Order: sequence, then structure tokens, then C-alpha cells
Amino acid sequence: MIITIDGPAGSGKSTIAKMIAKELGFTYIDTGAMYRAVALKIKRKGIDPDDIRSVLKTLKETDIDLRPSENGVRVLLDGEDVSDLIRTEEIGKIASKIARYPEVRKILVQMQRSLGEKAKNAVLEGRDTGTVIFPDAEIKFFFTASPEVRAERRYKELKEKGINVSYVDILKEIKERDFLDETRKDSPLKPADDAIVIDTTGKSLSQVFQEVLQIIKEKTELQ
Ligand code: DC
Repeated sequence: MIITIDGPAGSGKSTIAKMIAKELGFTYIDTGAMYRAVALKIKRKGIDPDDIRSVLKTLKETDIDLRPSENGVRVLLDGEDVSDLIRTEEIGKIASKIARYPEVRKILVQMQRSLGEKAKNAVLEGRDTGTVIFPDAEIKFFFTASPEVRAERRYKELKEKGINVSYVDILKEIKERDFLDETRKDSPLKPADDAIVIDTTGKSLSQVFQEVLQIIKEKTELQ
């Protein structure tokens, strides 16, 4: 069974996808982590994200692997564990830029689809998991929340990790990334026609988790 969760940055989809996968014993597939891993390599090589030829050449020489772990997934870039290094706002922005290219998406979508098929039971999370990667997924969710709420969550998350950031900068970056993700021509961020839309504004993680789990149980009678 395939469950998909799409939504913008900071909507809570990663945390909930991990919790749901753990609860059901499904494989968790973080599709954004793959765009981020490529973005990290681009940055390290000093390649301009607007230079599609170099981005594509690099991607074709890159090996990305997702390894299930206790807390979700470890991301391997050419064999190196980059799970923590890819979590910065800067890498998120580069990831969003390279995600505009249909050629890049085609390669990553293929990898993501085959990871899901191999797993058989999986929770995929990203921007196009229910619209493009698995349009026939059994259950699709789309998370939303206001940009201010999402920025607040990111701000707190980074603060807790001891990273000094400004709320205003995060809000600006979230809005920029929304714009890039929603307006690109290929696979823009939008809910699938048959997605269940969940507004996470004002809800705690455990409330959203219970709501999602309840819907999955009702739909599958997995009790
Ligand atoms: O979910 P995230 O913040 O880790 O994703 C980083 C960027 O990668 C996001 O801004 C757009 C891109 N992305 C995408 O285009 N399609 C996906 N399925 C997942 C991520």
C-alpha cells in the first residue's frame, strides 16, 4: 500500500510521515531529501543551480540512497552520510531551484517510484508524491498551514538545535520557496484531485498524527 503526503515547507509532513511509517511498519521515503542531496553536491562543486547542463551532468554521476533508520531515514550521497548537512535553508533553496528542471525531476521521480515499488508498503512525502510519483496511491494527503505558522515552526526547530536564525529571514525564505515550488511548470506543488487536505494550523503534532491515522484506519480498516 502506498500513502502519500504532499505539502509546502514546514507544513509538518516530514514529521507526520515518519510517525505514520513507524506506526504502520511502512518504509518512509523522503523525496525532498533526494533533491537536497543533489543540491549539496552542486554547492560543493561550485556549480550554478541555474546552469542546467552542469546540474544534469552532476546528477547523472551521482549515487543517492535512502537507508531506513531508527528516526526515519539516512541519506547517502555517493556513499557519504549527509543526512544532517542537507537540512539547511540554503540547501532547501538550491533544491527548490534544481527541482524546476523536468530533466532533473524525471531522473529523481524514477528513483523514487522504484524505491516505493520495492518497499511495497511505503509512506512517501514531498511535493508531487500523490500527483506524479504515485498517482494511483491508495491514500493521499495534502498538508497546509499559513506561511507564518510554518516559519514559526522552523524557527523553533532551528533554535532548539542551537542554530541562530531570524524569524523574519525564515518567513522570507519560506515564501520564496513556496513561490518557486508552486509556480514551476513541471509538477508544481498542488493537491491531487483525490487528496485529503489537512490544515495543520493551530494543531499539535499529536492531533495531526491521530487525525491522519484515523483516516488511514477508516479507509483500510487496518485496526
Ligand atoms: O521537502 P523539502 O523541504 O526537503 O524539499 C526541498 C525542495 O525539493 C523543495 O523546496 C522542492 C523540492 N522537492 C520537489 O520538487 N519535489 C518533491 N517531491 C520533494 C521536494
